[in-house]
Amino acid sequence: MVADAPFTDVVRARRSARRFLPTPVPAADIRAVLEDAQQAPSNSNTQPWVVHLVSGPARDTLAQALLDAFEQERTSPDFTGDYGDGVHQERSQQQAAVTYAAHGVERSDHEGRRDVVRANLDFYGAPHVALLFLPPLGDRVRAAGDVGMYAQNFLLSLTARGYRGIPQAVLSVYADTVRDVLQVPAELKLLFGISFGTADEEAEVNHLKMPRVPLQRSVVVHDTPGVLHERSGPDRASRVAAAPSDTPTTSTEESPT
Ligand SMILES: Cc1cc2nc3c(=O)[nH]c(=O)nc-3n(C[C@H](O)[C@H](O)[C@H](O)COP(=O)(O)O)c2cc1C
Repeated sequence: MVADAPFTDVVRARRSARRFLPTPVPAADIRAVLEDAQQAPSNSNTQPWVVHLVSGPARDTLAQALLDAFEQERTSPDFTGDYGDGVHQERSQQQAAVTYAAHGVERSDHEGRRDVVRANLDFYGAPHVALLFLPPLGDRVRAAGDVGMYAQNFLLSLTARGYRGIPQAVLSVYADTVRDVLQVPAELKLLFGISFGTADEEAEVNHLKMPRVPLQRSVVVHDTPGVLHERSGPDRASRVAAAPSDTPTTSTEESPT
């Protein structure tokens, strides 16, 4: 992505990368990404994000601790990762199938799938990872929304500057390990991390273009003609809510993502 590209080009160029070169991002660029992310809106301007930026030896120490926790099955998630049994679960299964295939891993390849999780926990080789924590504000849902906005600014800023990143909820499955290594207080809960750097553009997995459902499956219009070319109203709302499936699937993959 070149500097000063139109905004919509940046939005569409942002895709998750899953194999990175070890080359560090210059400090000035990381600083600029952080400044962009800091411009995110938040409830009552609370700016609740607490960000731990990890590189170099600290990055390697954290990756090793995460890999050890994985091998010893020491999971400690702060939040559930339940997709239900409807359309969201189906989309997750499709995403897992496509991503494992791009990693060259067959559905039946148990060890291959574990290797993909290990690659996740090694930040897909990225030289930097930002861990995004939530302070103890109510049930933390509002703060989580704010941190999501921060994260998207972060990812788009990386893209606009020629770098790539990937949000990783799998890191939060090992929240206690992350807190231990980074000496983060227990009241800060880990939402997810963003690994980032320069993508290995030769890796097939970095060229995935994950589909999006049509707008009609996400948006209900009320008295806003000409946007979706669909009839609107309460009937439309119930059809969106009841949508059983995007496409037929027989996959039973579980997504590591
Ligand atoms: C909050 C969040 C957590 C995610 N966690 C992971 C993860 O742990 N591992 C992974 O490989 N991808 C993860 N992803 C990436 C999603 O799979 C990806 O965003 C989705 O498939 C759409 O693809 P795209 O980002 O290339 O557009 C996560 C994305 C988000 C927004």
